[in-house]
Amino acid sequence: MRTERLRNDPAGIAVAAELLRAGSLVAFATETVYGLGADARHGEAVARIYEAKGRPSFNPLIVHLRGLAQARELTEMPETALRLAEAFWPGPLTLVLPLKDGHGLSPLVTAGLPTVALRVPAQKDAQALLAAFGGPVAAPSANPSGRISPTTAAHVLAGLDGRIAAVLDAGPCTVGLESTIIGFEGDRAILLRAGGLPVEALTDVLGHVPAPATADTITAPGQLGSHYAPRAQVRLGATDARGSEVLLGFGPVAGDLSLSPSGDLVEAAACLFERLHELDALGRPIAVAAVPETGLGVAINDRLRRAAAPR
Ligand code: TXA
Ligand code: MG
Repeated sequence: MRTERLRNDPAGIAVAAELLRAGSLVAFATETVYGLGADARHGEAVARIYEAKGRPSFNPLIVHLRGLAQARELTEMPETALRLAEAFWPGPLTLVLPLKDGHGLSPLVTAGLPTVALRVPAQKDAQALLAAFGGPVAAPSANPSGRISPTTAAHVLAGLDGRIAAVLDAGPCTVGLESTIIGFEGDRAILLRAGGLPVEALTDVLGHVPAPATADTITAPGQLGSHYAPRAQVRLGATDARGSEVLLGFGPVAGDLSLSPSGDLVEAAACLFERLHELDALGRPIAVAAVPETGLGVAINDRLRRAAAPR
């Protein structure tokens, strides 16, 4: 299969929507990372996502929608979910919600669970594609399973060229980290994955910190130890490079490359995967400077710990 690189203009978006209608896979930009999109009601199309990614079939996928009205057609939204959706959609927040009967989604999307993960992306080109297509779009991150998430069309092609119909090139992602995932136990919000929406923002709206996922809560497979692994070995909290290591700096630790010379966490989040891709390509062990455990730093450190986990 030849992967088309579509321009992000009305003509390119129309072609992408047509490919989705035909059951093909189209990678597209969201504000978090590039998603690998398929019609969420089309079982074969969804199956092709797992195939293209080499993803274990028990990992459910996120469904992308135009807005809250579409979410209410598909799911029962507890009061707390509505409040979070009203505060943060469109944006980098995914809500895991109980499905209504007759929802029409392929069961492959939810991997058989009675819940579905829903997200309304803020990126205007993602919104344009969702509007042109009309239906729900299932989209995990557009990378081979277990590899670094893509934040540019070039990253998508590096991992999936020849395995998907097209990539809609809308430039680099602005947030650069996957969405924050919240599930519910009744009306109680549970943090399933730290991500692009800082926990502090959720806490402001909830009036308390979201409960952490426990062993008996449904956990997101994104929490698996080495899910975000580069091929190289990764050492954290470094102040200098040892031996053949290449050093990824932050703030006062300059490094060979830096997540953010000024110590800005938003800048660091936006370039994290980009930097890991660049460093991984060098084939040398990677040392990473300490990143503060506040705001987006929590999600950045979560990704870095996974990258460094023994495997
Ligand atoms: O920012 C993002 O969230 C990106 C962009 C493309 O939207 N998507 C993304 O999708 O990161 P993915 O498939 O790589 O991660 C989806 C996560 C997985 O960890 C999955 O297990 C979890 O969402 N998830 C999906 N449905 C779920 C469900 N019903 N219950 C619990 N976790 C669920
Ligand atoms: Mg992923």
